[in-house]
Amino acid sequence: MMADARRVVVTGATGLIGKAVCAALRERGYSVVVFSRDPDGARRAAPGAVEYVAWEPAESGPWAAAIDGAHGVISLAGASIAGKRWTEEWKREIRRSRVVGTRGLVEAMRAAARKPRVFVSGSAVGLYGPRDDTALDEGAAPGDDFLAGVVKEWEAEALRTEEFGVRTALIRTGIVLDRDEGALPQMTLPVKLFVGGPVLPGTQWFPGSTWPMRSA
Ligand SMILES: NC(=O)c1ccc[n+]([C@@H]2O[C@H](COP(=O)([O-])OP(=O)(O)OC[C@H]3O[C@@H](n4cnc5c(N)ncnc54)[C@H](OP(=O)(O)O)[C@@H]3O)[C@@H](O)[C@H]2O)c1
Repeated sequence: MMADARRVVVTGATGLIGKAVCAALRERGYSVVVFSRDPDGARRAAPGAVEYVAWEPAESGPWAAAIDGAHGVISLAGASIAGKRWTEEWKREIRRSRVVGTRGLVEAMRAAARKPRVFVSGSAVGLYGPRDDTALDEGAAPGDDFLAGVVKEWEAEALRTEEFGVRTALIRTGIVLDRDEGALPQMTLPVKLFVGGPVLPGTQWFPGSTWPMRSA
C-alpha cells in the first residue's frame, strides 16, 4: 500500500465520538480509513471514508497492513460502559476491548515499515475515579476503582509507542454531552417524564464536554 500523508485510520469510527472525528477529518482533507467489527454497517454509520476494513480488538490481524504508511491512527473503540449491567463478563469485555484493542494497534505500528506520525488514543477521566470535592488535573494520581484500573492499563498499552518513537496523545475525555446520543439523553429522559432526580449519590462531579466541539 502506498504511504499517504493524509490517510488516517480510525477505530470506533461508528461511535458518538468517532463519527464526529471522522467528519472533522474529512472536512480538513484527510482520507479516513474506518476499522470496524462490522464494515458494512460502518459504511452506513460513518459514510465518506475511503476504505472500510474488518477489525476487532486482537493482538494481530490482516487489518494491520492498512496501518503501514498511514499518517495517523486514532483509537476510539470500546465496549459501552453505560446502558448494560456490569456483570463480570461485561467488565472483562470493557477491559479487553480497550486494552487488547490498543495493544493490537500498537503492535501493528511497531511492525509497520512506514510508521504513522501520530497515534491518538481515546482515554477517559475515569482514570481519576470518584474523588469528592478534590480538584483534579492531569497530574492527579489515578483512582482505585474498576474503571480507573482499566484506563491505567489502556493508557500504558498506548504509551508503548514510545519504544519506537510514534508521537502519542492520550485524550482523557469527560462525559460527552450530545443532544441525541450518549449520556445526556439518558439523563434528561426521566426529567422530561417528570420523574427526574439526582444520579446517586448526587454529590459527584464530572467534567462534561459539549459536542460537537467547535474550533475557535
Ligand atoms: N462518550 C463519552 O461520554 C465518553 C467519555 C469518556 C471516554 N469515552 C471513551 O471514548 C471512546 C469512544 O466513546 P464513544 O462514546 O464514541 O463510544 P460509542 O459510541 O459507544 O462507540 C464506540 C465504538 O467502539 C466499537 N465497539 C463497541 N463495542 C465494542 C467492543 N466490544 N469491542 C470493540 N469495539 C467495540 C463500535 O464500533 P464498531 O461497531 O464499528 O466496531 C462503536 O461504534 C470509548 O473508548 C469511550 O470509553 C467516551
